Amino acid sequence: MTTSITVEGLEVVFDRFRALKGVSLEVREGESYGLVGESGSGKSTLLRAITGLAPVASGTIIVNGKTLGKTRDKAFYRDVQMVFQDPYGSLHPRQTVDRLLQEPLAIHGIADGEKRIERALDEVGLGKGFRFRYAHQLSGGQRQRVAIARALILEPSILLLDEPTSALDASVQAEVLNLLEEVRRRRKLTFLMVSHDLAIITHMCERLMVMQNGQAVETLTASQLIGHRVSEDYTRNLLRASEGFVRV
Ligand SMILES: Nc1ncnc2c1ncn2[C@@H]1O[C@H](COP(=O)(O)OP(=O)(O)OP(=O)(O)O)[C@@H](O)[C@H]1O
Ligand SMILES: [Mg+2]
Repeated sequence: MTTSITVEGLEVVFDRFRALKGVSLEVREGESYGLVGESGSGKSTLLRAITGLAPVASGTIIVNGKTLGKTRDKAFYRDVQMVFQDPYGSLHPRQTVDRLLQEPLAIHGIADGEKRIERALDEVGLGKGFRFRYAHQLSGGQRQRVAIARALILEPSILLLDEPTSALDASVQAEVLNLLEEVRRRRKLTFLMVSHDLAIITHMCERLMVMQNGQAVETLTASQLIGHRVSEDYTRNLLRASEGFVRV
């Protein structure tokens, strides 16, 4: 078994505020791993720390066998891609889909762009017809498909997904989640995925970590969470607060 992401004793400090207080986790290659916990518990900060966007005070991050320093090289940004919650914020509205997909290819000096653009658009269920549409002409679900295509175009091995469907309607949400699952299987990707929704996490992830207040509360398998076989009261409260999860 190979480990894709190892985080050990990670501390992130913003000014004097400790957003992560010694967090550790291990994500296996090809696994889909979930992060849950209340707002402000540090889920996004953990993803941002991995991508080099949060001030790491101490601890270790190892990605695909490489211990990361303060900066990330280009190879890292090819191999690790992030998908955000808000497809309105993450895609420039007045750019065409083509331009949005060309950009990462240009940054990384990739030559077979044509093929990759066509493949990525097909793969996310949009197809060539969308290539010259503007981002502002797309629905929320279509935009999120473009954001996923943009993440895939560099052929990464890891996707960091921060609430990738929480801005979408329930039916569109299900479509995008299914798409992500298909893509993960086909490309043998590793996912580290944040969601408020325990049903989404148990549907998408094999294991998960519960976070509170910058710390790990416990690590569970999806079936432990589904079966309410949890150790911590905090997790029990999360379950209770999560609609459809209540079992009497
Ligand atoms: N750039 C920043 N400067 C100062 N504090 C920050 C910064 N980013 C995050 N924080 C703080 O760190 C804590 C964790 O934030 P984070 O965004 O990781 O939470 P989260 O678990 O993703 O919450 P949500 O579910 O609401 O997205 C919060 O208290 C937040 O205010
Ligand atoms: Mg967040």
